[in-house]
Amino acid sequence: MDRILIRGGRVLSGSIPISGAKNAALPLMAAGLLSDGPLTLTNAPDLADVATMAGLLAHHGLDVSRDTSQRSITISGAATDLEAPYDLVRKMRASVLVLGPLLARHGRARVSLPGGCAIGTRPVDLHLKALEQMGAEIEITAGYIEARAPQGLKGARIIFPQVSVGATENILMAAALARGQSEIVNAAREPEITDLAACLMRMGARIEGIGTDRLLVEGVASLSAATHPIIADRIEAGTFACAAAITGGSLLLQGARLDHLGAVTRTLREAGVDVAEEEGGLRVTRSNGLRGADVMTEPFPGFATDMQAQFMALMCVAEGASMITETIFENRFMHVPELSRMGARINFHGASAIVRGVKHLSGAPVMATDLRASVSLILAGLAAEGETIVNRVYHLDRGYERVEAKLAAVGADIERLAGR
Ligand code: EPZ
Repeated sequence: MDRILIRGGRVLSGSIPISGAKNAALPLMAAGLLSDGPLTLTNAPDLADVATMAGLLAHHGLDVSRDTSQRSITISGAATDLEAPYDLVRKMRASVLVLGPLLARHGRARVSLPGGCAIGTRPVDLHLKALEQMGAEIEITAGYIEARAPQGLKGARIIFPQVSVGATENILMAAALARGQSEIVNAAREPEITDLAACLMRMGARIEGIGTDRLLVEGVASLSAATHPIIADRIEAGTFACAAAITGGSLLLQGARLDHLGAVTRTLREAGVDVAEEEGGLRVTRSNGLRGADVMTEPFPGFATDMQAQFMALMCVAEGASMITETIFENRFMHVPELSRMGARINFHGASAIVRGVKHLSGAPVMATDLRASVSLILAGLAAEGETIVNRVYHLDRGYERVEAKLAAVGADIERLAGR
């Protein structure tokens, strides 16, 4: 398994191209199941999770072609196999996003339950209850979701008891082809959902309230071909913002959007980091000391849970203390013991962690456990004295495109060690 070696202490400067967003690309690819004509997605990131979704769509019988020079993916054809098997779904939970489209377009689907992952049990009850409200008959047998809608789905008023990105995406895609009007109340408002809605509109869907927590969808008989640019990855941008901050450097994050960072911007500024819009993206600079700042993760536009581990790494070397509360997932502090091995002072009880800043971290061999925890260890390694080796970087490759190359290009002493 590949590992990444970092020699800390370098100050980063220069500009980093931000790739297309993983968490937009995945639902957008699933939307390819809905249309009669080809769906071309441009600015597509080259990630393991995108390849996994491409493999799942191909399993369903779609043609998925990737033009690496154009950084685009074209999805065409119609599903002939309506089953998403366990051996594919267990690799990536976002596979459950094929459920709504398959059901809406073909009236049937058999999708493996995704199972949990390192950060939590990750149930899909909200997806299933909403689809039942739209007329689907759903049974769980032998670890599979057996769903049928022989007369097609019908529009319904869906009120989500809690905000769910994936459930909002599944229902939005299903509602686009349902009979009649659907209203989705307490919808998630992440930029990736706005991007999915924009793409569905390009395909002929009729959606109002885009960007708000109340979506109105007028179902249509069919959706057609479209070409859609994937938005820049706000979590990658936030991650590299923390890289500039933790090394005391200055980076231009090419293609990043301030309005997609939500509360992350305010919190970075509170910690003493400058974040400003500049021609072509966002300029992030840290020239004075880092101050402890408190964080509570929330749905967008609150502080993104996918930025929690990265910000914790930054707070490890800030002046003072930081209280970090994770409200979205039940087990998203696995980076804490690894950061502690590097000399960080962190105590956590349940959903909250107290970080007391230290003068410096010390490089050490550490273990990646999930996607965002992995990158928080890289951030810590950039600032640590000595060498840090991050093991199990396959977690990293799921959501970051060539992270070591991008960081090396702005001055980091970082390299990938091919696995034994
Ligand atoms: C999406 O996951 C993202 N993944 C996650 O990013 C992100 O952390 C999460 O949204 C929150 O922003 C993709 O977009 C592919 P949720 P999702 O449904 O849709 C509970 C990363 O690092 N819940 O908003 O699975 C759930 O357990 C990944 O890129 C139910 O209880 O998240 C969680 O506690 C990690 N029942 C909370 O809601 C359900 O039916 C939010 O989950 C669905 C969710």
